[in-house]
Amino acid sequence: MAKTTLAYTCSNCGASHKKWAGRCETCGEWNSIQEEAPLAAGPKGKTLGANKGRKIPLGDLSTVDAPLPRGLSGIQELDRVLGGGLVPSSAILVGGDPGIGKSTLLLQAAASFARNGQKAIYISGEEASSQIRMRAQRLELTDAPVRLATETNLRDILTTLEEERPDIAIIDSIQTMWSDHVDSAPGSVSQVRATAHELTTFAKRRGVSVILVGHVTKEGQIAGPRVVEHMVDTVLYFEGERGHQFRILRAVKNRYGPADEIGVFEMTGMGLQQVTNPSALFLGERDNPAAGSIVFAGIEGSRPLLVEIQALVAQSSLATPRRAVVGWDSARLSMILAVLESRCGISFAGLDVYLNIAGGLRISEPAADLAVAAALISARQDRALPKDTVVFGEISLSGALRPISQAENRLKEATKLGFSNAYAPSRMKLASESGMNVQKIEDIAQFVENCFGTIEQ
Ligand code: TYD
Ligand code: MG
Repeated sequence: MAKTTLAYTCSNCGASHKKWAGRCETCGEWNSIQEEAPLAAGPKGKTLGANKGRKIPLGDLSTVDAPLPRGLSGIQELDRVLGGGLVPSSAILVGGDPGIGKSTLLLQAAASFARNGQKAIYISGEEASSQIRMRAQRLELTDAPVRLATETNLRDILTTLEEERPDIAIIDSIQTMWSDHVDSAPGSVSQVRATAHELTTFAKRRGVSVILVGHVTKEGQIAGPRVVEHMVDTVLYFEGERGHQFRILRAVKNRYGPADEIGVFEMTGMGLQQVTNPSALFLGERDNPAAGSIVFAGIEGSRPLLVEIQALVAQSSLATPRRAVVGWDSARLSMILAVLESRCGISFAGLDVYLNIAGGLRISEPAADLAVAAALISARQDRALPKDTVVFGEISLSGALRPISQAENRLKEATKLGFSNAYAPSRMKLASESGMNVQKIEDIAQFVENCFGTIEQ
């Protein structure tokens, strides 16, 4: 009799392990490794043997395919994140924390697509049809010809989709679906993988765009959306703090468009409204610039975005002072603090440091280094920069400023919003005059000298 060996799979990243452990070595998550039924052993024998397969037709690279017509939802922020509309027969994963607004956005999108003449089906495994209708009433979408169903059995869902042949099918959520040929509970890694695989192959085979909703889970029992990221064409994540009204939809992977593109939405009493001028929104009211607050001219995806970076520096009562970061990388903050200490002699020892990106945005660009450094020094010295100033540039470990991309777009956006001074790395070519007074900075020490003068230790 064959010995059954159990498999151990991480529900966060899907990595498999030989034995159970408290922490997944691949993604570093604690308590996420679960026992799973082993995968099928595959075909008997070592090779496929002498039985011949079917000869598959081979093509060449020069064939010109007609460009795929993209379906537009009419929600511009969503279409932009998708890379200019929805590609037929693509599979899209929309991930995010529970309650962030995935169902709301997708119901609005389904209604929009349906109003634009596409056939849209919305299948929920979480809410009753009456609940979805109630939400549709609140959002004033009841007139849109969206077809609704509540179902979790994948076999029934596929049969329905096969017959209906919609243009778009929305599956909310992948963690509630189950396939009867996999012997484990809905939400387990094997179920989520199997159902996502079935749905994506269905999308390719039948020319239906399938949108899968995936909850980001905290506990290990339920598989997270990362487990299916590699199967789908496009991965979108909904970001934003639940207390904030802003929601950011970010393309993390996109086979049909640029990754890192963002769409900005605002959660209102009438669902998610798109924000077409996000810079103005993220800056908010800035009449009297406070110490520790700096405007960073950033780029998110293909679009310039001005954001306020806030720092607070206070005497610490702890042996190891606090370093708290919201919206930025904490390792990068430690690096900036170290550079300030060793290249400019500005020490933050014995001081608690808090860093926050206003509006609930997450920034991953290294170009924000200089703005963060400026916010930190400004907070430490309790001195604000003039209110019409923007800052950008990457800081290297030597303290030198490195050139960054799309400087002109950043300056243009800043000019548009009424800024007139900029601090930027010196080794950068600026072709056109932007009407902006640009101070070119060689290294961090020169920046400190220019902005804050001599700083006492
Ligand atoms: P939902 O789309 O159900 O979240 P998810 O599907 O990601 O779990 O969003 C639910 C939240 O959105 C809930 O806290 C209420 C809020 N909301 C509004 O503020 N306005 C609205 O018009 C709607 C429909 C929801
Ligand atoms: Mg939901």
